[in-house]
Amino acid sequence: MGKKISWKNKLIFGDCQNMKELEERSVHLVVTSPPYFNAPFDYPGLFESYQKFLELIHNLAKELKRVLDNGRVAAFVVDDTLIDRVKYPVVADITKILTGEGFKYLYQIIWVKPEGYIRISRRSGVLLQHPYPMYYYPDNLQESVLIFQNGEFDYKSIPRGVKTKSRIDIEEFKENKWYLSVWKITNVLPIKNRLEKGIAAFPEEIPYRLIKLFSYRDEVVLDPFMGSGTTLKVAYELGRRCVGYEIDLELSDVIKEKLSFNQPNLFGQKLSDFFEIIVREDTKHLRTKLQASVRKKRTR
Ligand SMILES: C[S@@+](CC[C@H](N)C(=O)[O-])C[C@H]1O[C@@H](n2cnc3c(N)ncnc32)[C@H](O)[C@@H]1O
Repeated sequence: MGKKISWKNKLIFGDCQNMKELEERSVHLVVTSPPYFNAPFDYPGLFESYQKFLELIHNLAKELKRVLDNGRVAAFVVDDTLIDRVKYPVVADITKILTGEGFKYLYQIIWVKPEGYIRISRRSGVLLQHPYPMYYYPDNLQESVLIFQNGEFDYKSIPRGVKTKSRIDIEEFKENKWYLSVWKITNVLPIKNRLEKGIAAFPEEIPYRLIKLFSYRDEVVLDPFMGSGTTLKVAYELGRRCVGYEIDLELSDVIKEKLSFNQPNLFGQKLSDFFEIIVREDTKHLRTKLQASVRKKRTR
């Protein structure tokens, strides 16, 4: 088992390529989605090149290898990205990087979004206007949840009482078909959801399933790309401890609102009493920069 650590939950504003605040093997599960490589709506021009994006994943993978406990898993919600008619093989490259760092590639879950929830464009419409071969552009309804393991898990290391407290509800497992490698889950619509605007947040159901399936009560769940804080919110609600990294300080209020930071509970305690906030010098103010870049793109 990794070290038991007595610390508060943490919101860390800083670059996840260096997670110096976390000790070796102090994390039991990682649930994350990296910024979509230069995605036109959310992150246009964020990375100088695809190579720079891969470097970020590489540096992160090294840090994850260090902080993740033996046998534990890291789940990445990712998809290949299409920019200016070039498709970037993000899923394959992340798999290669993580396995290259010594992780075992366990599963690829396909997250399928409902038809009609297509966010960016209905590209398939081109064929209706040009009903001929070579005019085929499918609408993308899926993302991958890639699951990597850090060595072998010792099932005997978990005390019976902890297992009992972390029992998975079999009815929920069967009813919502968690047992399939295809998960049908509605995505977050940023237009409706003011909080997640421009963040490319995933729906709570994704971390909910992963946290229940791959961590025990009181264990530590990490999201190195916190965004609006979805993973941390769900982890906390499920009785796990949580830590997140986010490079963009401008998301601080969004995260606090999502976590209902200042609302007192029945005992008059606020969530903020249970969290430590660390602001490092390497934070950035990305939102303003990215929004300006989106505006520029749209007025072209
Ligand atoms: C796709 S979003 C994550 C969304 C999150 N899953 C949610 O539900 O809100 C990726 C986030 O990673 C942040 N980010 C980008 N590079 C980073 C880095 N080097 N370290 C920490 N955070 C970073 C971005 O600012 C962005 O908020």
